[in-house]
Amino acid sequence: MSETLLVTGASGHLGRAVIDHLLGEQKIAPANIIATTRNPANLADLAKRGITVRAADFDDPASLEKAFKGAGRVLIISTGDLDLKSDRRLRQHQTAVAAAKATGVSHLLYTSMPNPEPGSPVLFAGDHYGTEQAIKASGIPYTIFRNGWYQENLFMSLPHAIASGKWYTSAADGRIAHGARDDMAAAIAAGLASGSGESHIYTLTGPQAFTTNEIAALVSETTGKPLEVIQVPDEALTEGVKAAGLPEDVARIVVSFDANTRAGRIAEVTDAVEKLSGRKSQTLKQFLEANKAALLG
Ligand SMILES: NC(=O)c1ccc[n+]([C@@H]2O[C@H](COP(=O)([O-])OP(=O)(O)OC[C@H]3O[C@@H](n4cnc5c(N)ncnc54)[C@H](OP(=O)(O)O)[C@@H]3O)[C@@H](O)[C@H]2O)c1
Repeated sequence: MSETLLVTGASGHLGRAVIDHLLGEQKIAPANIIATTRNPANLADLAKRGITVRAADFDDPASLEKAFKGAGRVLIISTGDLDLKSDRRLRQHQTAVAAAKATGVSHLLYTSMPNPEPGSPVLFAGDHYGTEQAIKASGIPYTIFRNGWYQENLFMSLPHAIASGKWYTSAADGRIAHGARDDMAAAIAAGLASGSGESHIYTLTGPQAFTTNEIAALVSETTGKPLEVIQVPDEALTEGVKAAGLPEDVARIVVSFDANTRAGRIAEVTDAVEKLSGRKSQTLKQFLEANKAALLG
């Protein structure tokens, strides 16, 4: 495997983990890896290890073309620029796809989300769906990873819910197949390092899907704290999230996740993580046990 592998968003949680797996079990030489960031000082540690670090800003097409030069397989990690008032994030990703085309990248990989098609209740799903469309239209062979929700997302809701003993949701009996971010990174690194030129869409999930009630029961069992699930309508949940201090648009996004769960659009369980990475996925129970102290705050 001698093609150079490039990872954008390499300073982020997922990007750093992908690079660790490339260097680790994928045994990719640092000289065959390019890592990009808007601020190369963030990746000084990777440069020290022999990885080529380049500046790339998704809002700056010229910087992306410069950064992608000489790269064979390019992993575009979706940016975190969620903006309900513009299509900025979709444009960032489209710019990256155009730069990959202009520089002759041989294979494009992208981190999407499950079921991003029009009709998704998730307010930013269109960014992912539009990016998938742009990738397909580019004619570059691709691997799209539709990443399910990270187990780590639970750090955003559980500490407060455990402390108050009440978990407000509008997800009803919908299930989520949370997966460990590092397991998804291991699977993505395997796909990046594989050298495969075939186009594929993989949905990456955890090993089991749970309702909010089932997650709450697991949390209680693990922490010893009672946790009552309270079902409310979307509108009441939005008001509650805003009252907790989150901006209106963030509240709307959070509630759109619950509407998505309720609609059964994040419940699928696949074996793609284990098949790609060759390792056993972390269960939700293992995640809760490993992070009990942090969840208890
Ligand atoms: N599936 C899930 O549950 C879930 C949860 C959270 C997020 N996500 C998505 O998955 C992505 C990766 O997750 P993460 O946890 O690694 O996020 P993260 O730690 O916030 O990292 C995001 C990365 O995106 C890069 N980035 C942001 N804006 C950019 C721009 N304009 N140009 C170039 N790079 C830019 C940042 O790089 P620099 O700042 O160094 O330039 C950073 O490395 C997120 O960005 C988000 O789209 C998914």
